[in-house]
Formats: sequence, C-alpha cells, structure tokens
Amino acid sequence: MSEQLTRTLTTGVDIPYLGFGTYLIPNAGTADAVEAAIIAGYRHIDTAEDYANERGVGEGMRRGLAATGLDRSDVFVTTKLWPGNPGEFKSTAETLQAFDESLDKLGLDYVDLYLIHAPFEPAQRLGQWRALVELHENKKARAIGVSNFNAAHIQELVTAGLPQPHANQIELHPWSQKPDIVAYLNDNDITPIAYSSLAPLSTWRIAPGHASGKTDAQRAEGRSDDFPFKTMAAKYGVTEAQLLLRWGIENGYPVLPKSTNPARMRENADVFSFAIDGDDLAAIKFMDRGNGLAWGTQDPTHAA
Ligand SMILES: NC(=O)c1ccc[n+]([C@@H]2O[C@H](COP(=O)([O-])OP(=O)(O)OC[C@H]3O[C@@H](n4cnc5c(N)ncnc54)[C@H](OP(=O)(O)O)[C@@H]3O)[C@@H](O)[C@H]2O)c1
Repeated sequence: MSEQLTRTLTTGVDIPYLGFGTYLIPNAGTADAVEAAIIAGYRHIDTAEDYANERGVGEGMRRGLAATGLDRSDVFVTTKLWPGNPGEFKSTAETLQAFDESLDKLGLDYVDLYLIHAPFEPAQRLGQWRALVELHENKKARAIGVSNFNAAHIQELVTAGLPQPHANQIELHPWSQKPDIVAYLNDNDITPIAYSSLAPLSTWRIAPGHASGKTDAQRAEGRSDDFPFKTMAAKYGVTEAQLLLRWGIENGYPVLPKSTNPARMRENADVFSFAIDGDDLAAIKFMDRGNGLAWGTQDPTHAA
C-alpha cells in the first residue's frame, strides 16, 4: 500500500482514513504491534490514557520510524483524556497535567489529536474542554476533539462560547449508524471518527477477558453462511473485515482497526482498492440496530 488517503480537519490538519487501534493491547505487547503497524503502512495510531499503553505506543513509534525512515510528522497520533470516575472528575488544571503525563509516556512533544474520552460528568465537561482549547492554542495538540459525545454535549460547549471540537470519535458500523449525531457532525464540519468498525464480525473481541456488549446469538449470526457481509465481501473479492472498514471510509469516517495478528493487520490496511456499490450501500442503511456494542449497557453517549 503506497497511498494514504486523508481527510482534512477544520483546523487544517490532515487525518489519515486508516488508523491503528490499540485498545486491549497490553503495554508489554504494544511496541511490537505499533512498530509492525507502521511497517505495514499505517500512518495513524490511536491510544488513550485509559488503555495504559502510551509508553508502548511511544516505543513502537520510535522503532517504526527508525525501520521505515519516516519522520515523526509522518505519523498521526491520537490520545485521550480519561475524564475521571464518579467523585474524582478532572479539573482544568488536572486535565493539563494528565496531558503532560500522556506526552511524557509517549515520548512526544505534541500529539496530532487530543480527545476527551467520554462526556460522563456535566460539571467537569466545560473545564476539561477549556484545557483542551488551551493545549490547541499552545500547539501541544494540533487538533482537539471529543469522543462518545452526543449533539447536546457538543452544543453545550458552543453555547458556553468555546470553540467546537474538530472531531468526535464514536462507535460507527452498519449495526450502529447513528444518523442523528452523524448529521449534526457533518452539518457542523466536525469529523466523525469510527471505532469498533469490526463489531459485527463473529471474531470481534473474542479473546477471554475481552468484555463486550455482544451476545452469543449475535456471534452465531456472524458465523452463518447467509451473513450479509459474507455475501457482499465475496462479490468484491475482499474479506468481511475489509468490507466493514471500507463502509466507514466511504461514509467519510477515519477507521481504527485493531489487531495484533500481522496478517490481519495487513488485511485491514488493504481497503483502498475497491468501492462498495450503491445497491449494497442502500442495503446496509437498513441494517442499523441503534446503540453500539463496545461499551455494553454503559454507552456513554447517553450520559446526561
Ligand atoms: N473512544 C472510545 O470510547 C473507543 C471505544 C472502543 C474502541 N476505540 C478505538 O477504536 C479501536 C478499534 O475498536 P475495537 O478495538 O473495539 O475493535 P475493532 O478494531 O473493530 O475490532 C478488533 C477485534 O476484531 C478482531 N479482528 C481484527 N481484524 C480482524 C480481521 N481482519 N478479521 C477478523 N477479526 C479481526 C481483533 O482480533 P485480533 O486482535 O485477535 O486480530 C479484535 O478482537 C480501538 O482499538 C481503540 O483504539 C475507541
């Protein structure tokens, strides 16, 4: 894969459509995974304070850049603020401190995108967002955004007279299409970034201990011969994972497939050489089932 397709955020920063997700990769294995991803052609890495693997991401970046001869500026790095848990949500000052700690763990002097991981606490949202605005003004974060926010959460920032986010990272795939929030984001030039694109696959987060909101019946559906993504993928000569990732990209969403399996890592990166036709895109529109699976019953987009 030579070409990296990108989308430009309203702040003028280009975000590659293909990103590498690192949720559930333990820190000890993260450097190897990120190095392999960069060698396989990924130019966008997604991590978070909460994933506890920012040190591994930093190490993998340094190794990947050395192996490929790329510069730091060739790889887009996102990390996220963990907003805090009930009773201990981070203030503006604590948000700035958490950012510095993330930067230190990553071994970087800026990130390309810094996100508030979830809306959770109304009393702290504005204070945390003020910190992100300051980090953007100081060029410590080239772009800033939110994750798992609904339209009302974003509107609250704008109503307070603060700049709107450049991106909102949310769960988006054919089973969770979120047409209302996507329309709001598109109308306001806020880039939707898709996570858990592969959730409809029977293999999604199947390893022991990888909790998800997926039922056994939903997994069985993915194994059946008439699973619609199987039929569609066969038509294009691609895999179901490639079809699901391509669906996100064709909707304008950067995607963040996670895999620690090198063959799957390469497979997931090979999504720029086919297009889903209008009939299949129309059929997929009817497959929406509403809420996502990644957070189970705790879907943070429903936070007050
Ligand atoms: N902001 C948020 O709240 C939030 C929430 C969830 C995720 N995210 C971000 O989005 C990234 C992606 O989401 P995700 O990790 O939930 O799920 P994902 O990337 O949609 O799916 C990963 C799962 O699918 C399997 N898989 C990967 N490629 C495959 C392939 N080609 N064929 C079959 N199975 C395949 C993986 O197993 P193997 O590893 O064994 O291959 C893993 O179990 C995360 O890593 C994280 O960076 C953000």
